Amino acid sequence: MNDQMTEYVRKQFPALKREVNGYPVAYLDGPGGYQVPETVIAAVTHYLVDMNANVGHQFETAQNTSVMIQDARGIFADFFNCSWDEVVFGANMTTLNFALAQALVRQLKPGDSILITELDHEANRGPWLQLEDRGIDVTEAAMDINTCTLDMEDLKNKLLKKPKVVAVNYACNGVGTISDVQNIIRMANEVDAITVVDAVHYAAHGPLDVKKLDADFILCSAYKFFGPHIGVMYAKKEILNRLNPLNLRTQQQAPPFMIETGTLHHEGIAGACAAVEFIADIGLKFGHEFDGQTGPLKGNRRNQIIAGLRLFESYEMALTGHLIEAITSRISKATLYGPVAGHPRTSTVSFTYEGYTADQVAKYLGDRGLFVWGGHFYAIRLVEKLGLLDRGGLVRVGIAPYNHGTELDRLIEALSDEDALKRFVETQS
Ligand SMILES: Cc1ncc(COP(=O)(O)O)c(C=O)c1O
Repeated sequence: MNDQMTEYVRKQFPALKREVNGYPVAYLDGPGGYQVPETVIAAVTHYLVDMNANVGHQFETAQNTSVMIQDARGIFADFFNCSWDEVVFGANMTTLNFALAQALVRQLKPGDSILITELDHEANRGPWLQLEDRGIDVTEAAMDINTCTLDMEDLKNKLLKKPKVVAVNYACNGVGTISDVQNIIRMANEVDAITVVDAVHYAAHGPLDVKKLDADFILCSAYKFFGPHIGVMYAKKEILNRLNPLNLRTQQQAPPFMIETGTLHHEGIAGACAAVEFIADIGLKFGHEFDGQTGPLKGNRRNQIIAGLRLFESYEMALTGHLIEAITSRISKATLYGPVAGHPRTSTVSFTYEGYTADQVAKYLGDRGLFVWGGHFYAIRLVEKLGLLDRGGLVRVGIAPYNHGTELDRLIEALSDEDALKRFVETQS
C-alpha cells in the first residue's frame, strides 16, 4: 500500500485517536484482536437500532434479521470460497471447536487417535486433549524449537498411526509461522483423517480458499480481522451432515444450522459482515494490480477480498522486515523467536528482552502508548517448548494494516532506551 492508502485505512479507525500519557496509542496487539473501522461500528448500531429481534417471528424486524443472517452466510461464503450452507456462526473459535470435538467424538471409539501440534494455540489442542477422557489417543506433532516450524518428518511419522482427526493451525499466533497446511491436509486426506484448521491468526493476513485447501473444517474469529467478537467456521457440508452435534430438537437438523446452538450473536454477525466488506472495499479501491489475476475486481466480492488481503499482506511484510532488522541490529538485549528469513510468516514478531520479563517490557511499552502483549498468548505449548514458560514468555508485536512505520520507530526507540525501562520497572516494584 502506498502512503495514500495507509492514510485512508487509518482514517477509518476511531480508536486511533486514543492517547496514553500524552502518547498516541499504537495498537501493536493485532494478534490478540484488531481495532474496528467505523463501518463495523455503524453496522452493529444499525442492527441494534433498526433490526433488533429474534429470528423465526412474523414481524418485520425478525424477518429482516433472518435476511441479514442469510446475507452474512453469503458474505462469508466469499470469504472462505464455499457455499452459504457451509458457513457456521458461533460465540468464538474456542466454543465452536469444542462443539466440533464433541460432535466428532460421537463417531470415534476408544483407541482411535487424533493428531494435534505443538505449534497450535490451546484452542486447537484443548478440545481434542479433553477427549482422552473418552479413551481417545491424542498425539502431538513436534515443532522444531530452533525455527518454530512444524517438524514435518515427525508429522508424517505420526500420520502413519492413521489418526481420525488432524487438527493444525494455518499460522501460529505466538511467533507468526505459517505452516504448509495444504500439504498437511493432502497427507491427512491420504489416511482419511478429518482435518480441522485453526485459521484464527492467518485470516487477517491472507485469503482463505477452502476449495484449494480441501480442509473439512476451518475456524476463524471475526475480532481478529476488524470485526466484533464472534467465531465463524467453514464446515464441509458432506462431513458436517455425517456428524451428530449436540443440539436441541428445536434446532434445524441440517448444515450449517445443526451445530449452531441457541440464539446467534446477531449484532456481531452484522459487524463481521462489515469487517469483510471493509477488506473488500480496500481491495476494490486500491487493488488495481490484482485486477484480472483471478478475475475482475468490479462486481466480484471474492476477488476484492483476495486483493484487499494481498495488499495488507505486502504492506505488513514490508514493515515486518523493517522491524526484524531493527530489533536484530539495534536491540542487543532482545532475542527473536520465530521462523528463519524466507519461511512463510505473518507480521507477528516475538522476542525476549534480557534481564526483564515479557510482562515488564509490555507494561513499560504500554505506558508509552505502545500496546503489545507479553506472556504465552494461549500458545502455551510453544512457549513451554521454547523453555520460556517459567520465565514469563515472549513479548509479541503484531503489525496490522492500520499501523504505521513511525509507530515501529517509536517501539524501537523505547526498546533501545534501557535506562528508561529500568527506571520504569523500579517504579513498579
Ligand atoms: C491462533 C488462535 N487460535 C484460536 C484462538 C481462539 O480464538 P477465540 O478467542 O475466538 O476463541 C486464538 C485467539 O487468540 C488464536 O490466536
